Amino acid sequence: MHFCNELCCFKGAGLEREADMLKELHLFLLVVLLLVCAFFYQLSLKSSCFFCLPPQQLEQDPGALLGNGHGIVFIETSERMEPTPLVSCAVESAAKIYPRQPVAFFMKGLCNTTRLPSNSTYPGFSLLSAIDNVFLFPLDMKRLFEDTPLLSWYTHINTSAESNWLHVSSDASRLAIIWKYGGIYMDTDVISIRPIPEENFLAAQSSRYSSNGVFGFLPHHPFLWECMENFVEHYNSEIWGNQGPNLMTRMLRLWCKLRDFQEVSDLRCLNLSFLHPQRFYPISYPEWRRYYEVWDMDLSFNDSYALHLWNYMNKEGRTVVRGSNTLVDNLCRKHCPRTYRDLIRGPEGGAPGKLGLGNT
Ligand SMILES: *[C@@H]1O[C@H](CO)[C@@H](O)[C@H](O)[C@H]1NC(C)=O
Ligand SMILES: *[C@@H]1O[C@H](CO)[C@@H](O)[C@H](O)[C@H]1NC(C)=O
Ligand SMILES: *[C@@H]1O[C@H](CO)[C@@H](O)[C@H](O)[C@H]1NC(C)=O
Ligand SMILES: *[C@@H]1O[C@H](CO)[C@@H](O)[C@H](O)[C@H]1NC(C)=O
Ligand SMILES: *[C@@H]1O[C@H](CO)[C@@H](O)[C@H](O)[C@H]1NC(C)=O
Repeated sequence: MHFCNELCCFKGAGLEREADMLKELHLFLLVVLLLVCAFFYQLSLKSSCFFCLPPQQLEQDPGALLGNGHGIVFIETSERMEPTPLVSCAVESAAKIYPRQPVAFFMKGLCNTTRLPSNSTYPGFSLLSAIDNVFLFPLDMKRLFEDTPLLSWYTHINTSAESNWLHVSSDASRLAIIWKYGGIYMDTDVISIRPIPEENFLAAQSSRYSSNGVFGFLPHHPFLWECMENFVEHYNSEIWGNQGPNLMTRMLRLWCKLRDFQEVSDLRCLNLSFLHPQRFYPISYPEWRRYYEVWDMDLSFNDSYALHLWNYMNKEGRTVVRGSNTLVDNLCRKHCPRTYRDLIRGPEGGAPGKLGLGNT
């Protein structure tokens, strides 16, 4: 009505002109409407992070985002809120390789609402939350294990008395998340270099031996359900890897007749792929230090989808040093440019990026 009144001022100028004005007005309103819609669409896509801090939003169900089985999942079972540069690189590289898929980072520390992160104290946390397809969720194990075989186990143990709890709880959480929502799980020391063209897969660490550092399944795959049952049945937190790679390997042996790999091809059994060690572990764990060395040749990793850096072997605390020309330095520069710019420090420990190089 309001617009109509304004248009009436032009009455004397003839009907044709009036019709043109109306058309322009419609067009203008349409554009405004589209912009408003686009804004709210963006907001809703990103909403878990716009609002990931207020307590009521922490209750949010990750299923809405991940439920169609196309998510990439990372987990942090310690209370740490600030990712190390390597963790940040792993998550960023996945976001870069899978730009149209949600990358979910489940953090135990986000369950504690008394420790709200701020940008200045948590630059890595801010960096990740600013990436469009990265979503941060609290890791609430009790809720996560509901409707799975893991709940009875979880409610009967004293979590502060378990040995290797950070690893064991991570092993359990990844099974439950991928069983519920589907998608690909990755350890926080896996740098993605190209998309994984598989839906149901396990990654071999060596011949006839599976890792659990990377795996992917469609939602509700029976293999993972059986893994969770076996987890509870054979639970022993004292034995390192018993709930992790050993569990995956035990189950795979029950499902498939394992053979040695031929050349660099993968194995298939039922609807599962058992991927060749080259896909994620072209450098095997006894050799992990090679990532921190300077190579005199260009490595293409043509047969790999992502590189597992074996960070748990790194007891001596080796770090990525900016400009060192080590393998890991070059991988980070290429596959996680924002982390490289903002978080990775130079040889003198100088602040990176905008703050200048080596200015200690
Ligand atoms: C939450 O964080 C605060 C501050 O770091 C700490 O004192 C408290 O123990 C934490 N609470 C839990 C349940 O972890
Ligand atoms: C924190 O960082 C994010 C992403 O870089 C930015 O969008 C936001 O405005 C910052 N918040 C404050 C309070 O500086
Ligand atoms: C759980 O284990 C901790 C550490 O061993 C112990 O202090 C605590 O009393 C135990 N809690 C229960 C309920 O048994
Ligand atoms: C994969 O195979 C298992 C066992 O044959 C079957 O139960 C399951 O439904 C299959 N899943 C898909 C997604 O095809
Ligand atoms: C790796 O792949 C690239 C592009 O397909 C090719 O140019 C290069 O020669 C390959 N390198 C090796 C070692 O196979």
